[in-house]
Amino acid sequence: MSAHAIDGKTLAEGLRASFKARVAALAARGRRPGLAVILVGEDPASQVYVRNKVAACEAVGLFSEKIVYPADVEPATVLARIADLNADPKIHGILVQLPLPRHFDEKAVLEAIAPEKDVDGFHAENVGALAQGNPRFIPCTPYGVMKMLEANGVDPAGKEAVVIGRSNIVGKPMALLLINAGATVTVCHSRTRELAAHTRRADILVAAVGKPRFVTAGMVKPGAVVIDVGINRLPPEEGGKLCGDVDFAGVREVASLITPVPGGVGPMTITMLLANTVEAAEREAGR
Ligand code: GUN
Repeated sequence: MSAHAIDGKTLAEGLRASFKARVAALAARGRRPGLAVILVGEDPASQVYVRNKVAACEAVGLFSEKIVYPADVEPATVLARIADLNADPKIHGILVQLPLPRHFDEKAVLEAIAPEKDVDGFHAENVGALAQGNPRFIPCTPYGVMKMLEANGVDPAGKEAVVIGRSNIVGKPMALLLINAGATVTVCHSRTRELAAHTRRADILVAAVGKPRFVTAGMVKPGAVVIDVGINRLPPEEGGKLCGDVDFAGVREVASLITPVPGGVGPMTITMLLANTVEAAEREAGR
């Protein structure tokens, strides 16, 4: 039997449509939500992500400001700009696109963002709040995954969940969200031994590895829900197309639900960034 493919694009479109009324209500009170996106350097993938984030803001009526620096900019220049944005009443969310060039102290940059404007949820204070089960801002990709599970009637409570990947952006916050939702969570990574023995126990399997078609059918429990966070570009000799971390064709014969790439988790990530920015503006307006 072939798994049902979760349509992230349609879910994202519905959510984005629902934000428009909230944005309009805020704008009518002179409080249009605003997002500042900082990009340092010319990484092509980051350029695409930032362009898409700014376009998504405009499509739902948010104010957005894109700030671009050359790769060799002094970190102090970026930190000073973040301080200005922290104090700017037009800006409710601040996002610094990662990765930063090597001469940057990434942690210092993330900690410079005011926690109440940290719509990525990467500030230590917000990571701590999530770990304690009282999130202020949930990191966008894992937040999108939780919305997809909810929209498809998948309650993690009591389930075995396995996350492959331990990054601060996806793997760790994903594991915390699943723990908070009542799952029994295993986090696997590049040093894990007997990976398939773990993944085959998963009722919910989240792949955030960054390797094309890394998860194969033999690693998946029959009937599992498989979430593919990977966005990999195949080499030209394989068609140059986007491809996830999951071997979609093989795994869909084993799983019950599966997210495709493209059209799965990807559209949800930016949608949850918009959600966090609208939420930040509503909180500020309510103060
Ligand atoms: N780089 C890759 N994913 C992300 C993300 O979600 N936020 C930021 N700021 N940078 C990223």
